[in-house]
Amino acid sequence: MKIIITRDREELSAKAAKVMLDVVKSDPYAVLGLATGTTPLGLYAHMIADREKNGTGYAHIRTVNLDEYIGLPASHAQSYAFFMQKHLFDGLGIDRENTYIENGAAADEEKECARYNALLEQLPRSIQLLGLGSNGHIAFNEPGTPFGSDTHVVTLAESTLRDNARLFLHPDEVPRRAYTMGIRQIMHAKKILVLASGANKADAVYKMAMGDVTELVPASVLQLHPDCVLIADREAAERL
Ligand code: F6R
Repeated sequence: MKIIITRDREELSAKAAKVMLDVVKSDPYAVLGLATGTTPLGLYAHMIADREKNGTGYAHIRTVNLDEYIGLPASHAQSYAFFMQKHLFDGLGIDRENTYIENGAAADEEKECARYNALLEQLPRSIQLLGLGSNGHIAFNEPGTPFGSDTHVVTLAESTLRDNARLFLHPDEVPRRAYTMGIRQIMHAKKILVLASGANKADAVYKMAMGDVTELVPASVLQLHPDCVLIADREAAERL
């Protein structure tokens, strides 16, 4: 794992944008694996600013997201589909047809996992962006998830529900279940970019990068990826 430590979140976002834009500019047909959450917001803002300044084209770029809450349709303001539209896709002018995410409103959960698994087979990712849970999760693969997992339904860990409650009006509104891309599929991406910011991630960053490779720390699997870049700000990297 290549590790880059930055002064602060702003520098983290600028460096992450450089990695992502190198992929976009070298391959106009790239497939970008994307994440939601607070950490990538600065990166997304940089990508939008780059397009406004340099006219970077996204006509043939396709995107695949990691996860989605079960029970929230794409039109729901807290759904991850809505988040992506608002924070990235509108700003990049990406055609909705070229963006893929699990359907939180699907009637049949098993069929929805199968649909997404088939889609991922057809869309090998040029790069996969990841945030890091304070408990070491990647996407919504919580501690204990098999490294060989594909898209599946998860019951979110209490710590994840607490971490995500800030985005909802009331903690009880956080959906307790979600779809997530599996760890095997994350590892299939040609390149992985993982971002971590803030002191509450320091323990998870240490275990991910320096600890044992174990299913109890899902992110530790990234030590086995041949091209994984971690960008962490000083606070998140304080235990390295
Ligand atoms: C989001 C996702 C999650 C987050 C992680 C960190 O699509 O898959 O694993 O990346 O929970 O979230 P933030 O960035 O909000 O700290």
